[in-house]
Amino acid sequence: MNQETLFQQKIDAEVKIEARDWMPEDYRKTLIRQISQHAHSEIVGMLPEGNWITRAPNLRRKLILLAKVQDEAGHGLYLYSAAETLGISRDEMFDQLHTGKAKYSSIFNYPTLTWADIGAIGWLVDGAAIMNQVMLCRTSYGPYARAMVKICKEESFHQRQGYESLLVLSKGTEAQRRMLQDAVNRWWWPSIMMFGPSDMESTNTEKSVLWKIKRQTNDELRQRFVDATVEQAQILGVTLPDPDLKWNETRGHYDFGQINWDEFWNVVKGNGPCNKERLAARVNAWEKGAWVREAALAYSEKRKKKVA
Ligand code: 3HC
Repeated sequence: MNQETLFQQKIDAEVKIEARDWMPEDYRKTLIRQISQHAHSEIVGMLPEGNWITRAPNLRRKLILLAKVQDEAGHGLYLYSAAETLGISRDEMFDQLHTGKAKYSSIFNYPTLTWADIGAIGWLVDGAAIMNQVMLCRTSYGPYARAMVKICKEESFHQRQGYESLLVLSKGTEAQRRMLQDAVNRWWWPSIMMFGPSDMESTNTEKSVLWKIKRQTNDELRQRFVDATVEQAQILGVTLPDPDLKWNETRGHYDFGQINWDEFWNVVKGNGPCNKERLAARVNAWEKGAWVREAALAYSEKRKKKVA
């Protein structure tokens, strides 16, 4: 039996693939692409939220937001470490991000204009992320699956804190309710787009499902997200900005309107409202942090010499 057949048998039998196991080159490449994109999304995602740390409305909200942004940095670190086990270095991954070769989630190229945006990110963006990431706890590559277990626990807290903060706004003044509705109007469609292109257009899904990297397709997850979110919106008393959103008795799901794929691809290709700003912030942080990396390396070299 050849290695490829043995590999697929392991996948089919739900045996995790570990770093030292034989794997097809395409499986390795797909994982590096997806895990590094995921890691980049976590750390770029710190930027729109970090924007509100100094302006959180009270100490409690500020503490929650600080903790959430720190969690995202931790998620990035777990994921970069998981990707490194596949033979790519962290420096290479950062270089791909900084030169625009690597993608990160489209969602983080939208601006956070009001405090309600922070709640909307928690509810909708983290909500969409969890919908996608719960299946990744059972992904076939061991180091990625294990990293995702901890990440999902924290993402679940992120989603709840966002929803809770919106609930408070929903019971507030007329101006607060308007701010809430405006945030939902702006974040709804980009959140739906986060799941990626439709199954017809997705280039990677078929292979990723065969290898159990992904357990569900982009459209299946998007539908689950819409179905779960509509009722939460009703409790908040907000309208979701889609006139075609309605329950379909035959399908047992909500139908929803046409996604603006031109907008999605425009953002993915680097032309969204904040792409340039986000990338510039990451490059700036990398350059300004050079002395920290140099000092840490010098310290570890010194320790190694001492031990030897
Ligand atoms: N933003 C940017 N690019 C996207 C995208 C999005 N929302 N959705 C898809 N793409 C890109 C893909 O990377 C792929 O490009 P490539 O082949 O050049 O790399 C192309 O569009 C075609 O899409 P596919 O459906 O074929 O790609 P995938 O099979 O990789 O599916 C995915 C896309 C569902 C995003 C998958 O990569 C995935 O599950 N990734 C892990 C989860 C992740 O990255 N989440 C980021 C969300 S945010 C987050 O985690 C932070 C949290 O704190 C909120």
